[in-house]
Amino acid sequence: MDTEILEPLDITSWQGPFSAEIVSRASDALETGRLLYAPQLPFQLSDAERRFLSPDCLDGKSKNISFRPDAGVVKGTHCKGAERDELLAMLQRYYTSASNLLKALCPGYSNNSTPGFTSFRPAEIAGRTTSWRHDDTRLHVDAFPSRPMQGLRILRVFTNVNPKAPRIWRVGEKFEDAAARFLPSIKSPIPVTASLLSLLQITKGRRTEYDHFMLGIHDRMKADSSYQSQVFQIQLAIPPGTTWACYTDSVSHAAMSGQFAFEQTFYLPVRAMKNPERSPLRVLERLVGRRLT
Ligand code: SIN
Ligand code: FE
Repeated sequence: MDTEILEPLDITSWQGPFSAEIVSRASDALETGRLLYAPQLPFQLSDAERRFLSPDCLDGKSKNISFRPDAGVVKGTHCKGAERDELLAMLQRYYTSASNLLKALCPGYSNNSTPGFTSFRPAEIAGRTTSWRHDDTRLHVDAFPSRPMQGLRILRVFTNVNPKAPRIWRVGEKFEDAAARFLPSIKSPIPVTASLLSLLQITKGRRTEYDHFMLGIHDRMKADSSYQSQVFQIQLAIPPGTTWACYTDSVSHAAMSGQFAFEQTFYLPVRAMKNPERSPLRVLERLVGRRLT
């Protein structure tokens, strides 16, 4: 595997403590657009929980089962009663594990971050049909139409819990390069649109210029087939029992195939970074020559 893009972490515990060397390496790697990669950090399921390794527990509409740590509710499953509670407990345990990992690996982030959704992904990725905009087998940086980030960073922790099969990812060019490539074709937003979207509750909060440009990059990347096939990229086969993490708002990524993974999202203000100048917000601001939030 490509060692430029991966920062291998020789860790076997979610809790640490980790050496000062590992801690210093972790945030630097994340901020320079690499993936923290822990091939010996599985997320253990009990024998009983292993029955959830099936798309049958989905509700038929969602592709993921999600858990909101702050609200303590699970969604995306048809399971009820005791089964639902078991699913919730499993997702809650992943949330706790991922939070412990972040605290031990990136203590500077942990105090300032807020958790997003925890998700369990029991559906096979390959062969799913979606619109190009929702197609995560195309390289993209994460940006969501209804959820403005207003400059907040998106940090995600993943674990492959498939008993046998790897999760296949592609990772593309650096954010700086993608931004410089696509930004010139993205028109500035019409100011009244952001107010309307927020007023009509289409967006949760105001869509800033930052969000507008991030969505523009997300869409242009995914829509451009020749970019998808020709841009510099590497393919990763991420084996079972591996945990990895990256800033998915700056690491251009695509999930090609695989089934059964957990993911925990954290949101982080730019000021909590070791070097905020490396954030997509600051990169875009340098390119357009003005503040974007
Ligand atoms: C994505 O964030 O695009 C999907 C990642 C995954 O499910 O492996
Ligand atoms: Fe994504």
